[in-house]
Amino acid sequence: MAKIETISARKILNSRGQWTIETKVVLDDDSVGIQPVPNGASEGENEAVDVEVDKAIDIVNNTISDVLVGKDPFDQKEIDKILVEMDGTPNKSRLGGNSILSVSLAVAKAAADSEEIELYEYLSELYSGKEKNGDITYPTPIFNVLNGGKHAQNKLSFQEFMVIPALNTPFDRALEMGVNIYHNLEELLVDEDFETAVGDEGGFEPQGLCCDVALDFIKKAANVQYDVGNDVFLGMDIAAGSFYKDGKYDINEENIELTTEELMEYYNRMLTKYELIYMEDPFYEKDHKGWSDFYKSYSDRLMVVADDLVVTNPALLAEAIKKKLANAVIVKPNQVGTLTETFEFVKLARKAKMNVIVSHRSGDNVDSFISDLALAVSADFIKSGAPVRGERVAKYNRILEVFQDH
Ligand code: PGA
Ligand code: ZN
Repeated sequence: MAKIETISARKILNSRGQWTIETKVVLDDDSVGIQPVPNGASEGENEAVDVEVDKAIDIVNNTISDVLVGKDPFDQKEIDKILVEMDGTPNKSRLGGNSILSVSLAVAKAAADSEEIELYEYLSELYSGKEKNGDITYPTPIFNVLNGGKHAQNKLSFQEFMVIPALNTPFDRALEMGVNIYHNLEELLVDEDFETAVGDEGGFEPQGLCCDVALDFIKKAANVQYDVGNDVFLGMDIAAGSFYKDGKYDINEENIELTTEELMEYYNRMLTKYELIYMEDPFYEKDHKGWSDFYKSYSDRLMVVADDLVVTNPALLAEAIKKKLANAVIVKPNQVGTLTETFEFVKLARKAKMNVIVSHRSGDNVDSFISDLALAVSADFIKSGAPVRGERVAKYNRILEVFQDH
């Protein structure tokens, strides 16, 4: 069996032009795994903490490498256990979430390379403990076509305005739908003299819109070819923590500050008016009253999606399940730091019958690890922004590649 021969990190740029790290793991049979680390802009408070890039490189090249060289790359649990124990903090702040994640995922990639199997097959074996049978479940893509919040330079408070093809749509057709709606939206914006510059996740970021007008545009763009509410649905990532200040939600484009109850009324109106089936982070992660009331009112007809609330952390998810705060979860490996903890999180979500949405970050790379992860755990959805920009389409194209090969 091959052993880990070298582990080395280097500095690379992410899609926002910020430095991040990429780690290369080489095995003694010459197999290789290379893993860059993505970065969020609207991060949850309990996410794994990254250390500064040069420090992360030093930690990977020295501290981590010293301990893991010679180890068995197929024992992912042991590798991750060593990383977590070496760090010794609850939020990975000593070695850094970035150092740890890049090593954890690069080891898995090198192991898959050594076995000469597809990454998703290898990850599926790790996840389920069984060899992957021939069946593949493809995730439904969720396209973020209009950007606001911390991902855009406009004044929209809500972060992501999304279109979601109906669940039984084959992956290639779902992708085509996202592309068509995106281009229709571009035309409609141009027709009405709005800018078509794009935000961090590839969605348009026109100035001067409020939530209703944004959703009207998207609905119109989808209606050109599709039946909204039947072929395709709408969703939003509110990322409410990013505009929560001193107990109020600041909807600056409308010059209003809302209490938890008033924000709930705001949503009531939106949910009556639009074909929304997906609401992510509708309240700040510590506003459990808001989450709980929202869940009570809408969990039977909506995906109430926890991102910042649980940050891919099994302990925080257990609390959210107990308190009945969400019925769907975002999975971002870099929020927790290791592959093993990511799997643990997905298993817990599955046990609680929650929908699983594997997600990119707003600062990302052309890497497509999360696509293989989504296939390996049979995620219900994958969220990778608009169907434009290299780092966004890399994820969609990887799933399309597997789809076309079968
Ligand atoms: P982030 O945003 O990567 O900037 O955290 C993505 C999200 O909130 O879903
Ligand atoms: Zn989110």
